[in-house]
Amino acid sequence: DTDIFGPSMPKMFDVEDARPYAVDVDGRKLIEPVEKYGVKLLSIGFFVNSDTATLWRGGMASNALKQLIADANWGDLDYFILDTPPGTSDIHLTLLQTLAITGAVIVSTPQSVALADARKGIDMYQNDKVNVPILGMVENMAWFTPAELPENKYYIFGKEGCKQLANELHIPLLAQIPLVQSICEDGDKGEPAACHPETITGQAFLNLAQAVVTKVNRRNKVQPKTKIVEVKE
Ligand SMILES: Nc1ncnc2c1ncn2[C@@H]1O[C@H](COP(=O)(O)OP(=O)(O)OP(=O)(O)O)[C@@H](O)[C@H]1O
Ligand SMILES: [Mg+2]
Repeated sequence: DTDIFGPSMPKMFDVEDARPYAVDVDGRKLIEPVEKYGVKLLSIGFFVNSDTATLWRGGMASNALKQLIADANWGDLDYFILDTPPGTSDIHLTLLQTLAITGAVIVSTPQSVALADARKGIDMYQNDKVNVPILGMVENMAWFTPAELPENKYYIFGKEGCKQLANELHIPLLAQIPLVQSICEDGDKGEPAACHPETITGQAFLNLAQAVVTKVNRRNKVQPKTKIVEVKE
């Protein structure tokens, strides 16, 4: 969870009370990630009071983020997934300077104001000093379907905005996730929709995950490894 100012992973994984401890690995003190649903996770949320605003300058946030990444006992992982805050902030720059990012998945709702931010995000990753491949876009809250009218789709945030942007920029659209009350409720409960593969919404998230895996494999086959970005301070 790279959102230093608004961490939400501890709540979404129902591990708000977890307090990661330090372990000794080859003489180094490392933070032991919290594990839930087969995912090892770290978040600044484990270390700060959840009701208190974190009044940090960018540099402090960047240092905290670097520690969560580099000073943790991650062990062998299949994937290292970074959930970023919205926008193109100091946090994003720190990530690009700290890790060779395989690829970025851009999530947006379909309305114009959100798409403007998505466009900036894509531009940042595609900048010729950054060169992080865009694996694809996800259109979240693509439509709303009420339980009592399962045939109806209401395009509350506009229709297919992400699909059009993806087409325009020649980026794959990995998924369209509808606005569903249970997605919100399950997230707040700390039992995300992906934990329920027997439901349609659960399936939508598993399909998205599979699409990301496919894109990552392909990217690794056809494109060279990303270089860590060197930015002059
Ligand atoms: N498709 C959806 N249907 C219903 N609720 C949703 C959906 N997508 C997201 N939400 C709700 O909105 C919350 C925030 O969504 P999400 O984490 O995707 O947003 P974000 O852009 O990462 O927000 P933040 O700025 O807080 O990081 C979720 O925890 C969930 O409660
Ligand atoms: Mg977020």
